[in-house]
Amino acid sequence: MPSTHTILVTGATGNVGRHVVSGLHALGADVRAMVRTPETADLPEGVEVVYGDLTQPATLEQAADGTASVFLLWPSTDISDAPAAVEVFARHASRIVYLSALEGPTNQRPNGHWGDVEDLVTQSGREWTFLRPGGLAANVLGWADQIRTGVVRWPYGNAGRSLIHEADIADVAIRALTEDGHVGAAYPLTGPEVLTQAEQVRIIGETIGAPVRWEEQPIEEARENLTTAWGDPAFVDMALAAWAEMVDTPEQVVATAEAVTGTPARPFRQWARDHADDFR
Ligand SMILES: NC(=O)c1ccc[n+]([C@@H]2O[C@H](COP(=O)([O-])OP(=O)(O)OC[C@H]3O[C@@H](n4cnc5c(N)ncnc54)[C@H](OP(=O)(O)O)[C@@H]3O)[C@@H](O)[C@H]2O)c1
Repeated sequence: MPSTHTILVTGATGNVGRHVVSGLHALGADVRAMVRTPETADLPEGVEVVYGDLTQPATLEQAADGTASVFLLWPSTDISDAPAAVEVFARHASRIVYLSALEGPTNQRPNGHWGDVEDLVTQSGREWTFLRPGGLAANVLGWADQIRTGVVRWPYGNAGRSLIHEADIADVAIRALTEDGHVGAAYPLTGPEVLTQAEQVRIIGETIGAPVRWEEQPIEEARENLTTAWGDPAFVDMALAAWAEMVDTPEQVVATAEAVTGTPARPFRQWARDHADDFR
């Protein structure tokens, strides 16, 4: 057993990390939030906030010092600094819970940077748990400006998704960080239902009390807009191909979050209620 119980949370200001921090703090755990701008972090009173930049591994030494476990996310597809970062975390902590991603219906090792970071974590020799969500419901915050106009113009309105509430991922993370029964598990995580993108928009409109209409966007227009917005043509192609596939083969629903936490995953309608102010 490590002599400390300090849990380091990276991505502490993000959708998932913010809930991991507040959930651990509410449990009375010794939580340390790693952020890049402590002045604006706005985390619960009493939480230790430290500076750290994943792309500057030297800055991680102090953040990781004296920790027992780490909640890790990797915030971009560029993982050139990930080997050094994982090495620092693994030298200090005995457990790493990594926010990865779900790949296909069989929960196999994900492609791309998620799988590469999983490999780094397993090779570190430390205890590990992988959280593999499908789509985060928080992705639809990207529609907020359009929702305020009453029309969302986007491709593939019939793509069926099982988006997960970020708080459900955090609840699983907290279990994996604080309990011993999750070591070596790679958990596929989804929301409790499949909704098309057009249905998601309708539900947000109903929740905020202002009807919102879906308008199907031609693919080439979407490709151009998304490439400008995201700056990564390969990622845009991947997203468009994935949505196209979800029209005929909607995403699956898995009950892992409930199996781990004992509480059913939150429905999208609840996510919309929790975020109503973000769309008003
Ligand atoms: N969106 C999806 O559908 C989906 C699906 C599967 C997996 N995922 C994975 O989930 C993760 C994103 O989780 P999220 O939505 O909770 O995060 P998020 O809301 O996108 O926030 C990103 C977090 O990472 C931090 N960060 C960014 N660059 C950093 C750096 N160089 N050093 C240290 N911290 C840095 C940000 O902190 P600052 O406040 O300093 O910016 C912020 O706390 C990603 O790894 C993504 O691949 C997402």
